[in-house]
Amino acid sequence: MAEKPRIFAVVNQKGGVGKTTTSINLAYELAELCREDPQPGAPSEQVLIIDFDSQGNCAHSLGLRPNGQNLANVLIGNGTVRDNLLKADRSADGLPRPNLWLLPSDQQLATIKTRLIMREAVQSAMSMMEMDGSNEQVPILEIMQSQVGPVVDRFAYVLIDCPPSHDAFMNAVYNLAQAAIVPVKVDYLSTVGAAQNIENIRKAQMSGINIRIHTVVPTFFVQRQVQDNMMLEALQDAYGVRTVAEPIPRSQPVAEAAASGGGMTLQEYAPDSPATVAYRQLAERIYYE
Ligand SMILES: Nc1ncnc2c1ncn2[C@@H]1O[C@H](COP(=O)(O)OP(=O)(O)OP(=O)(O)O)[C@@H](O)[C@H]1O
Ligand SMILES: [Mg+2]
Repeated sequence: MAEKPRIFAVVNQKGGVGKTTTSINLAYELAELCREDPQPGAPSEQVLIIDFDSQGNCAHSLGLRPNGQNLANVLIGNGTVRDNLLKADRSADGLPRPNLWLLPSDQQLATIKTRLIMREAVQSAMSMMEMDGSNEQVPILEIMQSQVGPVVDRFAYVLIDCPPSHDAFMNAVYNLAQAAIVPVKVDYLSTVGAAQNIENIRKAQMSGINIRIHTVVPTFFVQRQVQDNMMLEALQDAYGVRTVAEPIPRSQPVAEAAASGGGMTLQEYAPDSPATVAYRQLAERIYYE
């Protein structure tokens, strides 16, 4: 039997579909499961979120203020991953998260990405013209593999929160991750826009994902909306019922937890809300697979 995946890219090129919400809450619930029901030989550091989006929403969603820690540092060789890890634990605020970690990002990541992409382009042009005798090209992929790869191996689960775009860095993410978790917004009425039908909405959200899809997570689901149910069926038809998780309901506490909650996870802010229960079920599905 194939080893069960532990390193997931949380990906969808569409904005605002619930990637960050899913990364944060799934990571929190997986960390809880690691503590409540430890599996033999599991690493003690347990769960890591890598914020791969220069919007930097992960730290904010967890109520954390990075003090210089940044994924961009790692990519330019300014310290190791370990130097740039932020402990998500907020025991002092009554929010214990002893085994949850974040490699945060901010707008610096956008600057660094541009710089690395330019460097790679210039160097590949130079080597094509045989001007590059030194062969000092440092591909993005290699930096990710050599810097991030070994640390990732020390965690039981790693969730990579991806940006709403597919840039040159996504290949590095696909290389590092073993599988994708894809939140898909099934809220037909708010997604309909230019797309004319459910199939178009589905295809638009699923395009460009160049990695095995482990789980499709329908988000913003409203049970009484006929179109939302049709969209759910379209996902099940396309990916199989076993790949599509129980939908995460559209629910007010989700939006509140990160904002008015001052950076709380759903479990911390509203333990009984339907979305909290749904994220817990998603974590169990992955943990006990
Ligand atoms: N199930 C839900 N019910 C209600 N609101 C939700 C739900 N899931 C996410 N939201 C809210 O929708 C907004 C977008 O969610 P989120 O930031 O997770 O999406 P994203 O895909 O990460 O966005 P981006 O593409 O910009 O990174 C946030 O304000 C979030 O609180
Ligand atoms: Mg996001």
